[in-house]
Amino acid sequence: MLWAFVITLVELSTVVVATSPRPRKTTTSTLDDEPFGNELDKPIPMVLAQGVAGQKGSLPCDIQPIGTNDGVSMVLWFKESSGEPLYSYDARNRKYGKANFWSAQHVWGSRATFRTNPPAQLIIQDLRESDEGVYRCRVDFRNSPTRNLKVNFTVIVPPSKPIIYDAKRRDMSKLLEAYAEGADLTLVCEVHGGRPRPRVEWYMDTQLIDESYEVRESQGPGGEMRPITVNHVTLEGLSRKHHHVKLSCKATNTILALPPTTTVIIELNMKPLTVEIVGKEKFTGKEKIFSAGKKYKIECRSTGSKPPAVLTWWRGSRQLKRAVENFQNGSTSVSIVEWIPSIEDEGKYLACRAENPRLPESAIEQRWILKVHFTPIVILRMGLSLKPKDIKEGDDVYFECNVRANPQAYKLTWFHEDEELHHNVSGGIVLSDHSLVLQGITRESAGKYTCLAANTEGRETSNVVNLEVMFAPICKHVLNSGTWKHQNATPPPFNLPEELHGALKHETIGLVCEVEANPTSVTFHWTFNNSGDLNDLPASKFSSDGTVSRLNYTPATDMDYGTLGCWASNIVGHSKLPCLYQVVAAGRPFPLQNCTAVNQSGAWIRISCIEGFDGGLPQKFVAMVDKQRWESPYPYWELELHEPTSVALYAVNVKGSSDPVIMDGIALKGVAKFTGESVSSVDMSPILIGLGGTATGLGLIVTGVLMALWRRHAATPAKPKPPQQPSIATFAGKGEEEDGNPDLIPTTALSNHTDLLQPPEAQQVSRGHRQMRCYTGELHLRWE
Ligand SMILES: *[C@@H]1O[C@H](CO)[C@@H](O)[C@H](O)[C@H]1NC(C)=O
Ligand SMILES: *[C@@H]1O[C@H](CO)[C@@H](O)[C@H](O)[C@H]1NC(C)=O
Ligand SMILES: *[C@@H]1O[C@H](CO)[C@@H](O)[C@H](O)[C@H]1NC(C)=O
Ligand SMILES: *[C@@H]1O[C@H](CO)[C@@H](O)[C@H](O)[C@H]1NC(C)=O
Ligand SMILES: *[C@@H]1O[C@H](CO)[C@@H](O)[C@H](O)[C@H]1NC(C)=O
Ligand SMILES: *[C@@H]1O[C@H](CO)[C@@H](O)[C@H](O)[C@H]1NC(C)=O
Repeated sequence: MLWAFVITLVELSTVVVATSPRPRKTTTSTLDDEPFGNELDKPIPMVLAQGVAGQKGSLPCDIQPIGTNDGVSMVLWFKESSGEPLYSYDARNRKYGKANFWSAQHVWGSRATFRTNPPAQLIIQDLRESDEGVYRCRVDFRNSPTRNLKVNFTVIVPPSKPIIYDAKRRDMSKLLEAYAEGADLTLVCEVHGGRPRPRVEWYMDTQLIDESYEVRESQGPGGEMRPITVNHVTLEGLSRKHHHVKLSCKATNTILALPPTTTVIIELNMKPLTVEIVGKEKFTGKEKIFSAGKKYKIECRSTGSKPPAVLTWWRGSRQLKRAVENFQNGSTSVSIVEWIPSIEDEGKYLACRAENPRLPESAIEQRWILKVHFTPIVILRMGLSLKPKDIKEGDDVYFECNVRANPQAYKLTWFHEDEELHHNVSGGIVLSDHSLVLQGITRESAGKYTCLAANTEGRETSNVVNLEVMFAPICKHVLNSGTWKHQNATPPPFNLPEELHGALKHETIGLVCEVEANPTSVTFHWTFNNSGDLNDLPASKFSSDGTVSRLNYTPATDMDYGTLGCWASNIVGHSKLPCLYQVVAAGRPFPLQNCTAVNQSGAWIRISCIEGFDGGLPQKFVAMVDKQRWESPYPYWELELHEPTSVALYAVNVKGSSDPVIMDGIALKGVAKFTGESVSSVDMSPILIGLGGTATGLGLIVTGVLMALWRRHAATPAKPKPPQQPSIATFAGKGEEEDGNPDLIPTTALSNHTDLLQPPEAQQVSRGHRQMRCYTGELHLRWE
């Protein structure tokens, strides 16, 4: 539709344009002013008309009669001054609409048609260059004089389609090339032919940007010189707005036809415009805070690049290459990096760089200055001025806890062997800032020290610093050994200031002195104190090995009983107090203690006691029921009783027997329990009461002492015992040998009853068995 309209406009404008360059006076005014006269004598008015080769053109011819009641009888067309008509319209003697048309075959033939409707014109189809020329139309009217009109008809030859070359003279229509943003683009448009010479103009989209063209000669394929019209255009500094812009070269030599046009579309390689790091976690504010060791997913986006930007990640000058995912989301390039910051990244930057691979130096980047938070790094060390190997009791020591943390640690705690230390000036513990001061340390201060620091990221314990404290030797008493376990009893929980040892004259007892000391390189010496005189024992009497010294001591006279002291010293100093060993003359054993009875199955009853001090001599144990007597190497019996009765229990050694413990009314009544104290409560004879008095006196000696005394024998298991427990008789015999023994404890009770205590050969003790059937002879136990 639009096309048709344009064509119509063009047709209409033909006459107008053709006439416009000519002064109006010579065209229209002459027409109007010339009603009559000799047609060829007068100057014939001429109009200008144009047509485009290949299209149709029109030759105007005014056939309007001047007067009314007149009409056209004939119209004839001539070329130049030729007298031969080329075309005729004959309406002579014909009815309206039945006129005769004729066209000379060798000129226009069927290409020409005459249109009589005003404005009348001869339409020529498919114009040829040869159609150009000056034409005359002669109009014959029925009444009026003939009219002549001239038409100067020009045939316009359109130019060829423009060819666009780039600076390297490559045909742009066959080229797919993208130009770098910022570069200059020079294009040449060349147009062959065209009559008249065309205007060759550059348009950007619809806007004219260059109309400076020139005509050159160029050599055609056949060597002939051909004119070409050339226009150079240069776009300086191509920018984003030039991307996909249409650059057109138009060759125009008429408005009667659309000008041949060649268009190129500019393709640009463009730099990235934006780059932005987007943390998946919230990273608000200027400082981006990370936690060391945590894994982060960070995204970077870039827009504006064509082709799409290549995104790379950098930490400082080092590229992060691991765990990076790149993809394109629409026109946005996206890169996701997985990254674990370390403490060393603090203050460095994390950068995302976007670069167009086609454009060097197109890279842009965004940087994040890193703040890396981490759990404290805690290093503990002892004060620099201290010599760790040279610290002794009483010294002051200090530790420094070096904490590196971000954010700052809000808490610092100190530990000694898992126990938290608190500031206590009176206790000699001073905590300040990052140090711990221990004043006047003791050997208990030795051990492992740590400090612990906490911040919002977590808490961390330091390395362990071991504090070694040297101290002078001190006595170490070990009481639980040997037969305690066998008796299933609990060892006394306390240490003793001294050990008590009973010894016969000429009997050798072994004393063991063990000390604790640091360093453990210790020298010993032993002293003997008898009634105030303190004498050193010759070094030949004892041996030393590390922290242990052994003395074999043999009292020869009464003067040899007393207190032995074991002293030790190391580089720190001397022991303040010696280990003390009281050596007393051997005597009667001490009574049994804490005796209990439990009924067994049937008539059997089990009695067990705790033994007391053996008086410095081997002891054994005797239970007496009525006239029956049971001996045992341990204070333990199993008896068969058929009726309620009393049982007397003794410890016996060669010096005599201990005070008895009487268990009364043992009668298979379930459990009965008796203790040494029960002696006084049972019904007993006066002698027993006397014995009880003695026992009370002895009972004043602390239980622990008794334990210690017992230990001496318990601790010497190496002493071979005969398979058969020595009988009282054996003890007695030995006792006689030890004639000169000081009888510290008179053996009143048993000496009165030696007859009873002599169960001679009939006595038979089966060791290692709990049940002791030891008796065949008749025994009469009389307490009167
Ligand atoms: C016809 O027109 C052309 C172009 O307008 C001009 O060059 C030529 O001289 C004219 N011819 C005559 C006879 O007026
Ligand atoms: C792509 O971009 C759109 C719009 O910005 C967004 O909604 C979408 O989540 C993005 N896709 C990915 C995979 O990031
Ligand atoms: C401080 O130390 C002293 C001495 O060791 C101790 O008796 C006291 O209980 C301590 N005070 C505190 C508050 O721990
Ligand atoms: C020696 O023993 C006596 C009495 O037991 C005591 O008073 C004295 O302090 C002791 N002397 C030494 C040096 O141990
Ligand atoms: C003996 O018994 C008494 C009282 O029951 C108790 O306090 C004591 O510790 C016992 N002695 C031993 C060595 O078990
Ligand atoms: C003690 O003896 C009685 C009577 O024979 C018996 O019933 C009871 O079970 C015994 N108890 C134990 C602990 O053996």
